[in-house]
Amino acid sequence: MQTKTTAKPVKATDLHVGGPEDMLPGVPKRDPIVVATNITRTFGGLKAVDVESLQIPRNAITALIGPNGAGKTTLFNLLTGFDKPDTGDWALNGKSLKGVPAFKVARMGQVRTFQLTKALGMMTVMDNMLLGAQNQTGEGFFQAIIPSMWRKQEDDITERALDLLERFKLVKLKDDYAASLSGGQRKLLEMARALMCRPELVMLDEPMAGVNPALTQSLLSHIIDLKSEGMTVLFVEHDMQMVKHIADWVVVMAEGRVVAEGDPKTVMRDQAVIDAYLGSNHGKDLGTDTDTVNTMKELLDDQR
Ligand SMILES: Nc1ncnc2c1ncn2[C@@H]1O[C@H](COP(=O)(O)OP(=O)(O)OP(=O)(O)O)[C@@H](O)[C@H]1O
Ligand SMILES: [Mg+2]
Repeated sequence: MQTKTTAKPVKATDLHVGGPEDMLPGVPKRDPIVVATNITRTFGGLKAVDVESLQIPRNAITALIGPNGAGKTTLFNLLTGFDKPDTGDWALNGKSLKGVPAFKVARMGQVRTFQLTKALGMMTVMDNMLLGAQNQTGEGFFQAIIPSMWRKQEDDITERALDLLERFKLVKLKDDYAASLSGGQRKLLEMARALMCRPELVMLDEPMAGVNPALTQSLLSHIIDLKSEGMTVLFVEHDMQMVKHIADWVVVMAEGRVVAEGDPKTVMRDQAVIDAYLGSNHGKDLGTDTDTVNTMKELLDDQR
């Protein structure tokens, strides 16, 4: 595991249409898995999301960054059917997801985890995993009357859950209540559970937040593994070192809009990005806002 994380991950390149000068907000991708246009969501008077155009490149790791309150989680909620936008269209593999409820979006291959983990504390680790399984044959009427069919399926699901728990180093805890896990282990469980339905696109909202450094390494290598297995990852992260290390593409949001996108190096030198972090905190005491202070430091270091 250790060797995997210290090695430099192979970056996907040539993801967008055009050259370096075309790395602008909304730039089309050569092979987009998600295409979204004119997505808006207003809360009271506040436009939390106002995204004119966004395409997520397939089989790559895209980081969604931006200061606190930029609209990242709201955009996740909208794209995955956990919330409804005021306007907009978006599609996964060319199939519209407009009005599709969250559980169906997951079945179609797009899953997400939450900024605050939603592992069900009073259920065991194993039961949390089984809950993540989708399209169980036993759910269908005809299959349900042929028990041998669903028994086989149940065995397969259990086997997959055990494999994933093994991979995420949680198998020894399979009979423990999820509530007894550490914050980092819960993040791992959420990610493992999301993989139960064999997704194509995995969306992770701050997967590394509150995770101790030892588990951070393992989470990072799991994210890289998803790409090598052919999946697409979209993740929200405040730590710019991690973004630089694993992201192939970076999308920057500020005040609901996409203000920049491109490869990590280019984006982090972009004045609009630095302005976005500064602008959103204009006149504010950053003393306690560690996310923004650290991001600012890293962005400015990158410019030197
Ligand atoms: N359910 C809600 N009701 C009212 N306002 C909301 C709601 N959800 C989000 N907002 C507001 O929308 C804006 C965007 O919030 P969001 O949580 O999407 O930001 P974020 O980029 O994920 O921030 P963070 O980095 O802190 O997680 C914020 O101003 C927030 O207060
Ligand atoms: Mg958020």
